[in-house]
Amino acid sequence: MPAQSEHPPIRTYKPRRGRITARQARTLDARHPRLLPADAPIDLAALFGDLPVICEIGFGTGVTTALMARDRPDLAFLAIDVHTPGVGDLVARIDEDGLTNLCVIEGDAIAVLRDCIDAGALAGVRSFFPDPWPKARHHKRRLVQHERIQLIASRVRAGGTWDLATDWAPYAEHIEAQMALEPQWQGGCVPRPDWRPVTHYESLGLEQGRAIRDFRYVRTQVPHTTI
Ligand SMILES: C[S@@+](CC[C@H](N)C(=O)[O-])C[C@H]1O[C@@H](n2cnc3c(N)ncnc32)[C@H](O)[C@@H]1O
Repeated sequence: MPAQSEHPPIRTYKPRRGRITARQARTLDARHPRLLPADAPIDLAALFGDLPVICEIGFGTGVTTALMARDRPDLAFLAIDVHTPGVGDLVARIDEDGLTNLCVIEGDAIAVLRDCIDAGALAGVRSFFPDPWPKARHHKRRLVQHERIQLIASRVRAGGTWDLATDWAPYAEHIEAQMALEPQWQGGCVPRPDWRPVTHYESLGLEQGRAIRDFRYVRTQVPHTTI
């Protein structure tokens, strides 16, 4: 596993407290076998066999994650978020919906990708409505930023995909501009994929009258820079 950075990390999220319901607490306390630790190497083949694995960064409530896992039993999903109530809900849904192709991690997806997942192990990454960090001084916290783009490139196999969506027009421009600088990724704005259910944050954006933009990038053969 690569050495950890000596610098304190710039986080892509703001730690927030959320009220935990009894259902969420029960699920989290029970340490469900599909709730994985955020600090140990992940053996994707042991978890999912031959299924191609999609990692979702920042699933929020997890409602759409469970729907996508239900709709695609031929794919496996590794869903990561720092938000404890959402983690509790999504783990509860694993049993309620009988999902065998989904594992959940409570933690910083950047650290998990860096420390727990092998190079080229993923068939794809999904990041729907990542925090837009609108203030210029916070732009370094955006998920779509050179070092994180390279980290994700290192974990996705050639031909794999990175699907994103945003309702924040300046972030959409930022995604296009940043990704255009990275030869490890090829792609751009696409029509809304029919497989993507409306997410919680998307519905908030739609209520505010904001336009939604989807992006798909494909991992090229170009080697990533050292991570
Ligand atoms: C704006 S919300 C979008 C949630 C969901 N995808 C949706 O569309 O409703 C962004 C989510 O990303 C999560 N997040 C941000 N940075 C993260 C990171 N580094 N690792 C894991 N989760 C992260 C936040 O906790 C939050 O739940």
